[in-house]
Amino acid sequence: MSDTPPQPLITVDDIHTYYGKSHILNGVSLEVGTGEVVGLLGRNGVGKSTTLKTIMGLVRPSRGRTLLEGCAITDFPAHRIARLGIGYVPEDRRIFRLLTVMENLRTGLDRRAVTEARKKELLDKVYAFFPMLAERRNQAGGTLSGGEQQMLAIARAMMLEPKIILLDEPTEGLMPRMVSQIRQIIDALHRDGVAILLVEQNVPLTLDASRRVYIMEKGAVRHHALASQLRVNDAVIHQYLGV
Ligand SMILES: Nc1ncnc2c1ncn2[C@@H]1O[C@H](COP(=O)(O)OP(=O)(O)OP(=O)(O)O)[C@@H](O)[C@H]1O
Ligand SMILES: [Mg+2]
Repeated sequence: MSDTPPQPLITVDDIHTYYGKSHILNGVSLEVGTGEVVGLLGRNGVGKSTTLKTIMGLVRPSRGRTLLEGCAITDFPAHRIARLGIGYVPEDRRIFRLLTVMENLRTGLDRRAVTEARKKELLDKVYAFFPMLAERRNQAGGTLSGGEQQMLAIARAMMLEPKIILLDEPTEGLMPRMVSQIRQIIDALHRDGVAILLVEQNVPLTLDASRRVYIMEKGAVRHHALASQLRVNDAVIHQYLGV
């Protein structure tokens, strides 16, 4: 298929994941290419977040494999997966409310191998991406608005210099102005060569930001297409998402 990425960065190969006895993922397969923005759509409860958690090693699949650049990472602990270059911004953002913006960012830098000079370079780069965070570097994370906290969570993921960031509903609950800022950040990350697996309820934003889109239903991927195809033919979107 011509829309298959030439160089898979992330491969999810037929994963089955359970919560207790509930069979949540029922053979999910997908790929994200190097530097590619890929959308993952689906109604509530179909398993989008569980797919991201499985890639991150936060949930163990009972069957199937996850690979990074062709190497299996299925059994690796989450911190090792993060260090290999997979950033993750969960639905609930998990910023430290009592730590300052800078302290939050430094928690993303907690690597012995990084020199102080390099840490400063990374902080400066993230502040250039997010001038708002630079202005508020000494403010407690909990005093930021929802949109600002989302940016802080993305910025913190960037501190590990990831090859890909898994974004779980980054625009949920945000005001339109903040939604368009998140949209611009996705573009900026893309220009910087970072791949993104974007889980969203915002269909227009996902079709606009992504190159390819997977649509999930009941724990499996049911449809896969170029975003450009879905932009001109919304029957599939209507069928699976009812919008
Ligand atoms: N920790 C858990 N224990 C048991 N069941 C869970 C757990 N987390 C999620 N589930 C169930 O697994 C299914 C898939 O959940 P998941 O969060 O992956 O869906 P989602 O597609 O991200 O949905 P949403 O759009 O609501 O975020 C849902 O039926 C949910 O109720
Ligand atoms: Mg979810």
